[in-house]
Amino acid sequence: MARPREPIGVIGVGWVGLVTAACFAELGHPVFARDILAEKVEGLRRGETTIHEPGLDELLAGNAERLTFTADLKEVLDAARLLFVCVDTPPSPSGDADLSRVRAVVEELGAGDRVLIMKSTVPAGTGAAVKRDLGDGIAYVSCPEFLKEGSAVEDFMNPDRVVVGADERDAEAGDAVAALYEPLGAEIVRTDVASAEMIKLASNAFLATKISFVNEIANVCEEVGADVAEVARGMGLDERIGSAFLRAGIGYGGSCFPKDVSALKMLAGNTGYHFQLLNAVIEVNELQKRRVVGKLQKHLGSLLGRRIALLGLAFKPDTDDMREASSLVLAARLVGEGAEVVAYDPVAADRARELLGSVELAGSALDAVEGADGAVLVTEWPEFAELDWASAAAAMARPLIVDGRNFLDADRLRAAGFAYEGIGRAVEATPSPAAD
Ligand SMILES: NC(=O)c1ccc[n+]([C@@H]2O[C@H](COP(=O)([O-])OP(=O)(O)OC[C@H]3O[C@@H](n4cnc5c(N)ncnc54)[C@H](O)[C@@H]3O)[C@@H](O)[C@H]2O)c1
Repeated sequence: MARPREPIGVIGVGWVGLVTAACFAELGHPVFARDILAEKVEGLRRGETTIHEPGLDELLAGNAERLTFTADLKEVLDAARLLFVCVDTPPSPSGDADLSRVRAVVEELGAGDRVLIMKSTVPAGTGAAVKRDLGDGIAYVSCPEFLKEGSAVEDFMNPDRVVVGADERDAEAGDAVAALYEPLGAEIVRTDVASAEMIKLASNAFLATKISFVNEIANVCEEVGADVAEVARGMGLDERIGSAFLRAGIGYGGSCFPKDVSALKMLAGNTGYHFQLLNAVIEVNELQKRRVVGKLQKHLGSLLGRRIALLGLAFKPDTDDMREASSLVLAARLVGEGAEVVAYDPVAADRARELLGSVELAGSALDAVEGADGAVLVTEWPEFAELDWASAAAAMARPLIVDGRNFLDADRLRAAGFAYEGIGRAVEATPSPAAD
C-alpha cells in the first residue's frame, strides 16, 4: 500500500495560498488551510473560489475531500507539521515590505516540532530575524514562490526551479520541503535562507528591469522610426537575452513587481547602498503608464469632455487582480485631463468598481466604445483580438485606438477604419479622420 502523504498546513489563503493548497491536494497531500477572513473560509467551504485562476476551480472541486479550510490555526497545527506561510506582505508607506502579517503568524505558532516554510515574499534578512523569535522546536525554511497569476496552477505544477533555503541547523527540514516538490521533477536549488530570499527579490527586479528596458527602447523606436516588436524579436533570439518579458507596453503592475522592486530598493537603501538602476526602472514604469495620454492628445487635442474607453482593467489577462494595475493610473490621469472614462473588463469589473471612482463600467467591449472619441487597449484579453472591430469603428464617435500592449493586428484595425497607435511601432499612425 502506498504511504499516505504528509499533511500540509497553509496559512493565508490568497492567490499563492489557495493555489499551493489546491496543488498539494492534487499531489495527494491532506491540506489544512487557514485564513483570518471568516467570510473567505466560509465561501471556500461552500466551494466558492475567491479568485479567477485558470484550472483552479477544477483542482479544488476534484480534491475537496483532501482540503480543509478553517479560520482556526489550532486545527492546522494539530494536523500538520509542515506549515506554508502565504500571507500578504504589502508595501508599507516607507516602501519597505510590511511584515506585520508574517509577525502575527510567528507569534501565534507557539512551540513544537514544526517547520515554518516561508512562501511569502520577504526582504533578505527576514528569515534570520524571524528565527530569533520562533518558539522551541520550530525550524525555518525559505521557499519563495515564482508562480504568475493567470497561469498559477500551471506554474506551480511545472516550475522552472524550486528554491529551498535552510541553514545548517534546519537541514532536515529543508530535506522535507525538497521532498514535497520532488514529484514535480524540477531542479531544486538548495541554498541558505538569505540567498533564497535574495533569489526571489532579484528575479522579480530583473524581470521588471527587462520590461522597463524594452519600454525605453520602444520610446526611442518611436523617435527613430523603428518597430519595437521587430527589435525585441531580433534581440530575443540571442540566448543570452531571451525573448520573455521583452514586450513593450504601458508598464508592469500587479501585486508583486511594483512592491518587490521597491522592497529591494529599500532593503539596499537601509544598508546604505543606493541601488541606482532600480530607481530608473521604477521611474520609467511610472512614466510609461502615462504615455497613452499623450498619444490620445496627439489625435484629439485636449481631452476635456472627450469620452475615452478603456478595454481591460486587470493588470494582466486571465486574472481579476487589480492590485497596482496600470489601468488605475491611466484612468486617474484621463479623469484628471477632464475626460469621461468608460471601461470594460471581462472578469475584473467587480474588483475594479470600488477603485475607479467616477469611471463608468460597461457590460461589453462594444458597449464601452459606443460614442467614444478614443479607445485604449489596456489588458490583452484574447476576446479583444476577436472583437468585431468594424462594428466598433462604426459605433465610435472617432475610430481611434491606442493599443497599449501591441496586441492587436494593426493592419486589420486600419482596414476597419481605425487610426491605430501602438507602443514603439514603426508605421506612422494615420491621423484620426474626425480629429479636431
Ligand atoms: N500573487 C502572486 O502572484 C504572488 C506570486 C509570488 C509570490 N507572492 C507573494 O506571496 C505572498 C502572498 O501573496 P498573495 O497574492 O497570495 O496575497 P493575498 O493578499 O491574495 O493573500 C494573503 C492572504 O493571507 C491572509 N492572512 C493575512 N494574515 C493572516 C494570518 N495571520 N493568518 C492567516 N491568513 C492570513 C489574508 O486574509 C489573505 O487572504 C506575498 O508575500 C506575495 O508577495 C505572490
